[in-house]
Amino acid sequence: MRIEALGPGHAEAVAALCELEGWETWMDRERSRRALTAPGVTALVALDDDQVVGACQAVSDGAITTYLGMLLVDTSHRGRGIGRALVGELFSRSACRRMDLLAVEESVGFYERLPHRRFPGVRLYPKRP
Ligand SMILES: CC(C)(COP(=O)(O)OP(=O)(O)OC[C@H]1O[C@@H](n2cnc3c(N)ncnc32)[C@H](O)[C@@H]1OP(=O)(O)O)[C@@H](O)C(=O)NCCC(=O)NCCS
Repeated sequence: MRIEALGPGHAEAVAALCELEGWETWMDRERSRRALTAPGVTALVALDDDQVVGACQAVSDGAITTYLGMLLVDTSHRGRGIGRALVGELFSRSACRRMDLLAVEESVGFYERLPHRRFPGVRLYPKRP
């Protein structure tokens, strides 16, 4: 298994992983590609024999804070340290002092195994008519 920067051809595989996870916001191929390649974004993939088995993405100010936007490991590859390695590499490439994130309930235990402090979090959505 190796971790590297998202390259040409990886975005499609990342969106496919997200679709398998049932993530509606990331399964649209074009939207997902834009989110993975936007300015200020760092996106990494975990590869097993050139197959994408994990991915993560963060938006960073390059100095103080990086925001984890997405982290996913294929179900067949969980529990092997890939999630921890992705977050560690992303944090280190950001050159920031801290990483903030919102965690879905089922992943809280994963983040609690990393050095952390707890803060309340809120996600806003566009106002609906
Ligand atoms: C959360 C996720 C990324 C973890 O990836 P992973 O590769 O299985 O995690 P790792 O193998 O690196 O686990 C690191 C440690 O966290 C623990 N861990 C992993 N997932 C956990 C979970 N959901 N709850 C509690 N502990 C967890 C592991 O047992 C391991 O513990 P250790 O320090 O005792 O060795 C993966 O389960 C996943 O993709 N889940 C679905 C998507 C998701 O929830 N993403 C996060 C959205 S906020």
